[in-house]
Order: sequence, then structure tokens, then C-alpha cells
Amino acid sequence: MNDNAIAIIGGGVIGLSIGWQLLRHGKQVEIFESKEAGKSASWVSAGMLAPVSEAGFEEMDLLNLNLESIKQFPKFADELKEDSGIDIDFRTEGTMMIAVDRDQAEHLRRLYEFRKKIELPVEWLTGSEAREREPELSPAIKSAVWIPNDYQVDNRNLILALIEAVKKRGGTIHEHTPVESVSVSDNTITGIFVNGESKTYRKVVLANGAWARDMKGLPEDVRPPVRPVKGQILTLRMTKEFTLQKVLRSQKVYFAPKKDGRLIVGATVEEKGFESYPTAGGVKFILEEAWEAVPGIYDLPLEEINVGFRPSSRDNEPIISDTSVGGLYIATGHFRHGILLTPVTAYEMTNIIINGKSSELIEPFSLLRFKQ
Ligand code: GLY
Repeated sequence: MNDNAIAIIGGGVIGLSIGWQLLRHGKQVEIFESKEAGKSASWVSAGMLAPVSEAGFEEMDLLNLNLESIKQFPKFADELKEDSGIDIDFRTEGTMMIAVDRDQAEHLRRLYEFRKKIELPVEWLTGSEAREREPELSPAIKSAVWIPNDYQVDNRNLILALIEAVKKRGGTIHEHTPVESVSVSDNTITGIFVNGESKTYRKVVLANGAWARDMKGLPEDVRPPVRPVKGQILTLRMTKEFTLQKVLRSQKVYFAPKKDGRLIVGATVEEKGFESYPTAGGVKFILEEAWEAVPGIYDLPLEEINVGFRPSSRDNEPIISDTSVGGLYIATGHFRHGILLTPVTAYEMTNIIINGKSSELIEPFSLLRFKQ
């Protein structure tokens, strides 16, 4: 075992992207994934990059982080193409928030006014103006907000590209290899326990999403307070007669049309632990809400029903941080923004691990905030 290598626990979009950036900086990287790389929350996602549509009233630090990350996406996508040959389909058609009834229209007005007040680029549209831009919208649509700068990528291509890039750069991905525990001695990481064997590492990154809290061997004060938030999401297949171009979001559901003809429609937000099966109620909820906004989905083939677990922290904001245990780093808790926050997490974490430096942007997301 080369104890100069960095071990990353978790082969989702966050673990893979941190590993890939470390490799680009000449580090040796081994990624340990308990299932198949990239096939958990990262796969079951719509790939939306939505800093403006998902801006929360009390979340200014998170908004700044999200805006910085979307700005980094073109560079990140270019570097990834260079290393993997795979295009992640970074699409800039924009996003429309829609209101399907009066209640939602009132809610949308509040969201619009908040965004105007903090000078985010948004435009108010009437129902007919919205339908001119996206003709599949229901005649019942009352009003909409146009968000020119919220984009999307193909999250599945992003994962495939990251896996390829990690391999091309000489990283190792150990799939179906759960890490049994981390080893800590004198408040310093000494390695991990895997396949019944102890392996020496001086640096370990905990990036296994909703499962991070349960990692054995962690001292209690560095155990990240994350939980799974279940999301059910559907994949429909668009036809010649039915195409959407833009990402659409009502108060309850969203639509993310992909270049290959898939239409991702999601999602439920459920506090049900690791309950891993889709439910009739979840699918009914998504389809009913989606059909109300875009009736033309009625005849589309339903290709996939998936369940994912968003890793959410106690304050629903990410943890991107070193820890009081020397050599132990944590990147989890990305909740609804995992794909969006991939570039900034990878770049900032690489800087923390290699140079020991945090930044003003990332400081609010330190694990330390949970100590108070
Ligand atoms: N960002 C979309 C979701 O979490 O469902």
C-alpha cells in the first residue's frame, strides 16, 4: 500500500470529482464505492443547475456558493471533455418557473419579488407569454417567471465522464467495496478498514452522501449530521409530436428535457430514511402535478421510476470541510444541489487538501458550524 495515496470514500459525483481534480494536481487517488460508481443519488437526478430558481429566503451564503459553482461549470465541462472525451451537454436554454393555479401564482409572485430585491435576473410573464415560449404548457398556467441563467447538464454523462477521467488520469475506483471503518489514532487519520484488511492512508475524504453519518470509527465530534431525504423521480420519453426545450418548474414538480429524448420529471421530497422502493402515492403525485402543468405528457412512454437519497445536513446546507481529525476531510450534505455544486466542491476541496487553505466562499460550510 502506498500511503501517499488519498482515499475517497464514496464514488458518487462528489467523490469522483474531488478524486479527479486531485489527480489533475498530480496526487494518487483511490476511490471506494460500496455499490456501482455514480449509480446512487447522482444517477437519480435531473441534472438541473438552479441557483436562482432554488434560492431560499434565508440562504445567502448558499446562494453565493451556488452562483459561483454555475459560473465554474463551463471550465469544469471543458476540462472534463479534455480528460474523458465525453460531453456533459451543458445547456443554457434557461428555466421557467410556472404557476398552475391562483395559489401557486401568489407564491410565485413572492419568489419573484425576493429575487428582484436581491438583483437576480428574472422576468415576470403572463400565462400566454409563458405559452409562447413553451407551447406544451397548459392553458391553465396563470403566470411564470423566466430565469435566463439557470441551466442544466446531463447528469448521467457527467458521471460517465468523471469515471472515465479518473481512470485516464491513473486513479483507481474500487466498486462494490464498502469501507467498513476509518482508523483514527491520536486525533489523526491512519487509514481505512476494507475487505477485512487495514489499509494505510494519511488523507481520507468522506464523500459517501447520505451514508456519511454511519461511518464506523469516526470520533463523535466529526460525525456529519446528514440524513437521507428520499426522492422519487420519473423518466418519460419525448416523441416527435411532443418536445420541451426548457427546464420547467412548478411549485410541486419539475421537468428537465434531455438531448437524447428523455424527459426527467420529479420529484418527491420525503423523510422516510433509506426506504428504497417507489410508491404508488409518489408516482401518482408526480404524474398528477406534472399533467396539470403539461397535459401532453399523458401519452408519453414511462421508461423509468427511480428512487434516490439526497444527503441533507441538519441545516440543509452542504458540508465541505476539513475536520479536527488530521487528514480527514468531509464533502456531503449537498441536498438538492449535488450536481450544481460539483465544480465548486471539487475545486475548493482540492485546495483544502493540497494547500490546507479554505476560502471565504467555503467557510460557512465548515463542519465546525454544528458544534455551537
Ligand atoms: N434539485 C432537485 C431535487 O432535489 O429534486
